[in-house]
Amino acid sequence: MAERLADVPPTAGLPLRAGDLAWPGTDADLASALARFLGVPQVQIECSGTACMVVALTALKRLAPTRTEVVVPAYTCPLVALAVAHCGLQLRVCDLQPGTLDLDPVHLRQLCGPHTLAVVPTHLGGRLTDVATAQACARAVGAWTLEDAAQALGARVGDRSVGAHSDMVFFSLAVGKGLTLFEGGALVVHDPALRQACAQASAETVPRHRGWELRRSIELLGYALCYRPAGLGLVYGRPLRQALKRGDWVAAAGDDFDPEIPLHRVGRWRQAVGVRALARLPDFLAQGTARALRRRAQLTRITGLPVLGDSPSVPGAAGTWPVLMVWMPSTAQRDAAIRALWGAGCGLSLPFVHALPDYPRYARVVPAAETGALPHARALAGRLLAISNSPWLDDARFEQVCAALARFSR
Ligand SMILES: Cc1ncc(COP(=O)(O)O)c(C=O)c1O
Repeated sequence: MAERLADVPPTAGLPLRAGDLAWPGTDADLASALARFLGVPQVQIECSGTACMVVALTALKRLAPTRTEVVVPAYTCPLVALAVAHCGLQLRVCDLQPGTLDLDPVHLRQLCGPHTLAVVPTHLGGRLTDVATAQACARAVGAWTLEDAAQALGARVGDRSVGAHSDMVFFSLAVGKGLTLFEGGALVVHDPALRQACAQASAETVPRHRGWELRRSIELLGYALCYRPAGLGLVYGRPLRQALKRGDWVAAAGDDFDPEIPLHRVGRWRQAVGVRALARLPDFLAQGTARALRRRAQLTRITGLPVLGDSPSVPGAAGTWPVLMVWMPSTAQRDAAIRALWGAGCGLSLPFVHALPDYPRYARVVPAAETGALPHARALAGRLLAISNSPWLDDARFEQVCAALARFSR
């Protein structure tokens, strides 16, 4: 891997086309287009996945003011912790089952109680997690389930979209998440009364804020221009290598989030861009799945390198494949591989650098009581490695990645 070729993005995002960027006509109703795509009666569009969480938790908090705690996986996006803190709620951090992304049911039962407002099972990296157990634990104490499908738009369980079996689900439309508005989110709530409560929470707490919308529109134009092999070196590869040179893995992984959560309405132009790109999403996801299944078989042939799949507890699970996630034999081997390959532009990265309690910059939003053992989430954080499923990682480069990973896993 001596020669560095064009940078591959860390996940498979759907590129935009010039025709997507036209001024909106009657095609600016992203909520209806996504509702048809997901097969649900209604979708609520917000300015990010994090904003979806803020709106949903605000609505739940109004319905059950004595419930103040939200249970999340110990290995997840730090924005989840920031959303909980933004709502003035308390984070409870749940360990995972060994070698999986499923919440540990024993720990989850210990965490759930009369103060629990919501449990947030999370479909990380497009892999479907066990929602039924989380839902049962939440229901047993009178709490709600909010599925985090930020990274799993298009994932299915049987013949229904992910999220059909709990109280509500949200999807991220941020960069790298398949369909993107640069930043955006989609919230689906099943019970009509709860849906109305979420719509009301949004109407009362999310301002129009034209400044933010203008900024996001410019950023989306930048994405349309630069999200291609020739542009990625500038917008992704260069800052990545600068962060790695400083030894700043948190910045390299994009885990260095601003604690202030922007809340604003999504304008008609960005919605129209999303509607037009959405028409290509089913084909893009189908091609990504075919490529990922082929590549998963290749990776599985490497001794000692399991590939994370959908949870075995979810019959009919068909997750999406923005990345392939492998489980390296040890943290030392994972770190050696990532040191050698992260900056090389061949699509290797870390989903998140740490378990939630282990980021010094988020200590303010993770209560000290939540920093306990969490052995399985910490093992995952130490050994997981993501390989991009972008179509721009061609077969020859993927073979090189496999050869390198085989060397590092010996
Ligand atoms: C698992 C998970 N949850 C929530 C979020 C927040 O979504 P957004 O970036 O759209 O605010 C992300 C974003 O990366 C995520 O990966």
